[in-house]
Amino acid sequence: MKIPMLNLYGQYKSIKREIDESIKNVIKNQAFIGGRYVEIFENSIARFCGTKFAVSLNSGTDALYLSLWSLGIGKGDEIITSPFTFIATAEAISRLDAKPVFVDIDPSTFNINYKQLEEKITKKTKAIIPVHLFGQPADMDEINKLARKYKLYVVEDAAQAIGAKYNNINAGNLGDIGCFSFYPSKNLGGYGDGGIVTTNKKTLAEKIRILKNHGSIIKYRNEIIGVSSRLDGIQASILSAKLFHLEKWNRIRRNIAKKYNRELKNIQFISIPFENGNVYHVYHQYTIRVKQNKRDRFKKYLEQNNISSIIYYPTPLHLLKAMQYLCYKKGNFPEAERASKEVLSLPIYPEMTDKQISCMVRIIKKFK
Ligand SMILES: Cc1ncc(COP(=O)(O)O)c(C=O)c1O
Repeated sequence: MKIPMLNLYGQYKSIKREIDESIKNVIKNQAFIGGRYVEIFENSIARFCGTKFAVSLNSGTDALYLSLWSLGIGKGDEIITSPFTFIATAEAISRLDAKPVFVDIDPSTFNINYKQLEEKITKKTKAIIPVHLFGQPADMDEINKLARKYKLYVVEDAAQAIGAKYNNINAGNLGDIGCFSFYPSKNLGGYGDGGIVTTNKKTLAEKIRILKNHGSIIKYRNEIIGVSSRLDGIQASILSAKLFHLEKWNRIRRNIAKKYNRELKNIQFISIPFENGNVYHVYHQYTIRVKQNKRDRFKKYLEQNNISSIIYYPTPLHLLKAMQYLCYKKGNFPEAERASKEVLSLPIYPEMTDKQISCMVRIIKKFK
């Protein structure tokens, strides 16, 4: 039996009528850029996250970039974030000529270790970007406490965490700005690129709206230099149709994680994911640790048995060539480095069948 990481075609087939209809509507109304479908979607996301505003963009990467830009981040500023994430998190900081300052991760959750955060705060620190990695919110109470104490902004990288909750509050509503990605493989994925920011601050929402639209609100009356970063009508309409199913899909992901946990918890060389008591984890990834230096051999074994798996992330950001200018060295963030050698994400998606799950477990248990 073949078990892929995702089955987006299967998902499409399960809601084909709604998706086809949503695409047709945009074409019929010729609302390709901006317009009512984008507006409806932005309002739905704001409602879903519990924030006052949502501004759609062309990617999660731009969500981070324009968030920092709207906060006035620039040359000489330091932004604290995790070294164990996708490069977009730090790239947004670097693109504004600010400096990413990394803090090691908590080995149990893979999220930034708030206990090590305060010692990295300097006079130049302007913001913290906690990443809700794999769908589990970071320790937001502690992070927000520090942010308040030192007057720092908090920009959530919630790219992997739509629908996740911390103390019953939605990701995206836990800091000053929340950033989401609609990359096709995300829990809420489009049929192309897309992103959105959420915030309760009108000034920030307005600033991002101007920046994303060539620095203007009124066409041809450009006030500042901005960029072009749009979520198109077809994506917005598809995402609205999918948003309707998101809570159910996240519940199914959590159930699959539970089944995996039950079956894998007693396997010696595997550590199952740890879930904090006060969070609603949405399992964008089900990421285990494979110990005893067995990870790569285990991954190959799964591959030989037609089971896909992915290493998120094989190199922590501070060791990537693109980040060498920051002069970090091997050994600077031991937990992020150890995680990159041990992690393995297994298939988890709402269309996964019980048969596939039991097949996975059976094969995993046979590994020697
Ligand atoms: C943690 C994280 N941040 C940022 C991004 C960037 O999002 P996008 O691919 O939509 O630009 C992604 C996803 O790809 C991500 O996983």
